[in-house]
This record gives sequence, structure tokens and C-alpha cells, in this order.
Amino acid sequence: MMKMTIPLALTMLTLATLALVAAPAPVFADEDSIATQLVNKMNKLFGVHPGFRANHDKGIVAQGNFKASPEAAGLSTAMIFDGSSIPVTVRFSDSTGVPNIPDGSNDALPHGMSIKYHLPDGSETDMVIVSLHFFPVASGEDFNAFLQAVGASPADAPKPTKLDQFFESHPAAPKALSTTATPDSFADEIYYGVDAFIFSNKAGEKQAVRYQAVPEKIVHLDAAEAARQLPDFLIDELPQRLAKGPATFHLKAQLAAPGDPTNDATKPWPDDRKLVDLGVLTIEKAVPNSLEAQKELLFLPGQVIDGIDVSDDPLIGVRDGAYAVSFSRRSQ
Ligand code: HEM
Repeated sequence: MMKMTIPLALTMLTLATLALVAAPAPVFADEDSIATQLVNKMNKLFGVHPGFRANHDKGIVAQGNFKASPEAAGLSTAMIFDGSSIPVTVRFSDSTGVPNIPDGSNDALPHGMSIKYHLPDGSETDMVIVSLHFFPVASGEDFNAFLQAVGASPADAPKPTKLDQFFESHPAAPKALSTTATPDSFADEIYYGVDAFIFSNKAGEKQAVRYQAVPEKIVHLDAAEAARQLPDFLIDELPQRLAKGPATFHLKAQLAAPGDPTNDATKPWPDDRKLVDLGVLTIEKAVPNSLEAQKELLFLPGQVIDGIDVSDDPLIGVRDGAYAVSFSRRSQ
């Protein structure tokens, strides 16, 4: 098994083609908020599929618990880090808004992992993370320009395409998209928070962090192996694996050093920054009717609790807005 690099332009161009056959392009107004414009672009690119998410719409829902390490409480007063066993709902997903996308397709990259912590007082907090080491763009406006460039670069577009031009002016984008590959299981992948959050501890000290969910082992398929898999191999594998025993991840926080940027998700912090083990996430069983369960679920990256704050990363607010727009459309 080996790590592969995504042929990105091909990836996105295939999607554009898929969308052409999936649904007629909706008509939208220009004066919409950036969050709405982004969901509109996704609907146009991937097609409108009633009841499904505008992005990351193919997924599977499981349940488990999180138990924090003693070190976590030293960094943050958040209730999830008090050392008790916190029930969690976890959703793994393929990228795109194409509901029948083959799990082994390059278009399904990056994969997502969403975690909802159910707190004793009835409140919830979420982490919505992805299998990219860092993000292709730093702002909603740049993501909008990226989706625009993808839509304007069909397979027969003259070179350089709009997408080639976008990559030229945003060199982090192709680099970010080459940091992931198809795993042999959703549970054998590492997921990154990408956006920065701010922890506060009992002493009032603040620390910028980025999350990582680290599995027991990472197994990536090469392109030929990924292409040979059945269309639902990741979705089907998870319940089978969990029936034999739980899957675990270590939730980790990468700690920023002074001067590390918190407002730019295209800039990974250096690898030598301290990684603190925040605790163990144990995934126990798939829910019986995942397709129905996922409709009810809304994960919001900015849904934080005392002890955790959003940083100045502009993506977090844009994402909250876009996820809410997508939820409202898919709930109608
Ligand atoms: C401006 C940037 C982004 C936009 C506009 C965007 C947009 C969206 C939208 C519209 C959805 C569907 C939400 C729903 O219907 O519930 C979604 C889902 C998702 N996004 Fe993003 N996203 C962005 C950045 C990111 C980043 C930085 C990550 C991870 C670090 C990420 C990970 C995910 C995941 C894992 C899901 C699936 C959520 C679920 O399981 O319900 N996205 N995104």
C-alpha cells in the first residue's frame, strides 16, 4: 500500500461533468451572502439532490464515546475534557454533493470526520475535520473563486484553464489537495482540524490549537487499488469492522508557538510543534439507519463550549453559515 497524489484537475473536471448530468443548474442571485454563494456554487457543480448535503453528502453515522487524558484539562476547562466518558455521534463522509459517488474515486477526497459530543447538561459541541493536512484556501471568497474556476474548466477548456490560473495564483491549493489519499477504511485515516481554535485553562491562560484525530494505523491505497474497490466499500466496511470490535482514535491538539498564524488554514504549523494527546475517541457501533440519522444531524465547526473559542480564522464563520444554508435546503 502506498500514498498517492491526487490528479486534482482531473478530479474536479470529472465532477463538473457529473453535475451536468445530475440536475439542471439552479439560478441564484448575485447579492447573496458569501455562505449562500458557496452553497449555490456547490449545488451547481454537484447537482441538487433533495435531502442531501451540498458537500460531504455520502456518509455513515456511528456512535461511541470520548474519554479525555489528564493533560487535556490542563489546557482547557471545556466539559469534554473533564475525564468522564462523553457519548459521541460520529459521521464519516466522502467529499462532494454527489450522493452515489464511488468511495474509491479521487473525487471522494478528502474524506471527512464529524464529531458531536453530547454533554451531561444536554448541550452539544462539534468538531468537523478532514483528511487534508491543510486547506486549499484561506477565505470564503477564495473558496468561491476556486469553485468558480472548477466550473469554468470543463475537460475541453483551452489551456491554461481557469483552474490552472487559479492554482498559479494560489499555490497552496494544489499542494493541500495532494496531501490525502483513499484509505482502506474510514477508521484507518488521519483527520485534521485545519482551522485554529483557542483553549482557555483554569489559570486563564490561552493557547491556540489545531485538532488531529489519529487512528491506530493509517492505511492508504494506491490509485489502482482504490479504483478496483466496490463503490460503497468504505461505507460497507465500517459496520462490519465495528461488529468485530471498536475503532479508536487519539484526539490530539497541535499547539501553536508565538507567531504561528491562526487566521490562515493554508499555512500548516511546523511539524515540531508540540502535540498533546487530549484523549481517546472510541467508535463502538454504526447506527441502524444511517441514511435517516444523517438527515437530522447538523455539525457546526463554530459550535464550541466554555473553555474553547473560535480563533480569528475567517473560514470558521463562513463554514457555519454555509452548513446552515445547506441544512435548511436539505431539510425542506
Ligand atoms: C469555506 C470553506 C468551506 C465551505 C464553504 C464548506 C461547505 C460545506 C457544506 C455546505 C457542507 C454540508 C453541510 C451540511 O449540510 O450539514 C459541508 C460539510 C462538511 N465539511 Fe465543509 N466547507 C468548507 C470547509 C471545510 C473545512 C475547512 C473542513 C474541515 C477541516 C470541512 C469539512 C467538512 C465535513 C467533514 C463535512 C461533513 C459534515 C457532516 O458530517 O455533516 N469543510 N461543508
